Amino acid sequence: MPILQSALLGSGHSQALDFIGPFPAQGSSELITSNPDFFVRNHFHTPQISSEAWSLNVNGLVGAPLKLSYSDLLLAPSVKRVLTMECAGNVSGGAGVGNAEWSGISLAELLKQAGASTKANNVILYGADSGGGEDLPTDTHFARAISLEKAMDGTCLLAYEMNGAPLPADHGFPLRALVGGWYGMDSVKWLTRIEVTDQPFQGYFQQKYYVAIGANGDRRPLTRMLVNSKFLRPSEGEEIRSKTYRIEGVAWAGEGKVTKVELRTAASEPWRPVTMTSSSSMIWTRWSYDWTVPRADKYTLEVRASDDGGHVQPDLRDPSRQDSYEFNTPHRISVMARV
Ligand code: MTE
Repeated sequence: MPILQSALLGSGHSQALDFIGPFPAQGSSELITSNPDFFVRNHFHTPQISSEAWSLNVNGLVGAPLKLSYSDLLLAPSVKRVLTMECAGNVSGGAGVGNAEWSGISLAELLKQAGASTKANNVILYGADSGGGEDLPTDTHFARAISLEKAMDGTCLLAYEMNGAPLPADHGFPLRALVGGWYGMDSVKWLTRIEVTDQPFQGYFQQKYYVAIGANGDRRPLTRMLVNSKFLRPSEGEEIRSKTYRIEGVAWAGEGKVTKVELRTAASEPWRPVTMTSSSSMIWTRWSYDWTVPRADKYTLEVRASDDGGHVQPDLRDPSRQDSYEFNTPHRISVMARV
């Protein structure tokens, strides 16, 4: 069942536009989203790839082009990282965010091995999935470019495992990128080719999608995740039957760190700080608040986070925005207390 409205995912000419998958495990101490619970966001159908037939080519402005097989990957020094990924089209409090432990190889190390030229400025990541229709040319592959600077900064992984299991087909088997702290569109799945270039990338998904558009039509490519937070419990419409209730959630800040999470139980109230676990960049942090419910009533709970760059989740969406990305207004839910 679709969880997010496709209208909020950008105008689409592609298939499978909806997120699927429930919220992360609620209320437990577990911070990791399990593989079946992790949202799936595909522009095309999931390609079925056999590891024997698959290979990864690294070419373009490199001194030594590479061709890696699946077993080459498994034999290379492996890196393990917990990373939070949010889709740029996720709505406040939406299911399009998850946190998993990924294992694979370092993109920076691979590019060093290939001898990426210092004259280059972009790294294009090509996926095996493709489609066409309307204004989408036939057999267009999903592909995204990131800056060479980001590709080399040690925060990008090429992952073949998710939470200790081989990458599930929907999440990019046999290999996907994870671009730490950036919105999910750059974490290209079903990777087949990496091209190092000194040219701006004109690909369809670079130009038509994942661009912030301001009032005057000014365009800015999306990169870093904005500071954001959500409730894990209670959920929208939940009935609260005890006088004290532990509200719980997560907050994240892309490449930054979450410095504060605040909550209020009515718009007329001041924001109150909640208790949070220590924050690391690129990984969501867990928070909780022991709420003493004043009386039986309907409450609108709101949560907002701040980051170490001085950003606070804004009360309102910038009205001049012409696109449907980067929603990070406070997550608001209504609950009924019967205490
Ligand atoms: N990679 C390919 N090849 N095709 C895609 O459609 N979707 C991107 C990204 N990588 C996509 C892709 C988007 S928009 C997001 S948010 C993430 O994958 C979602 O990753 P997930 O489905 O594993 O959660």
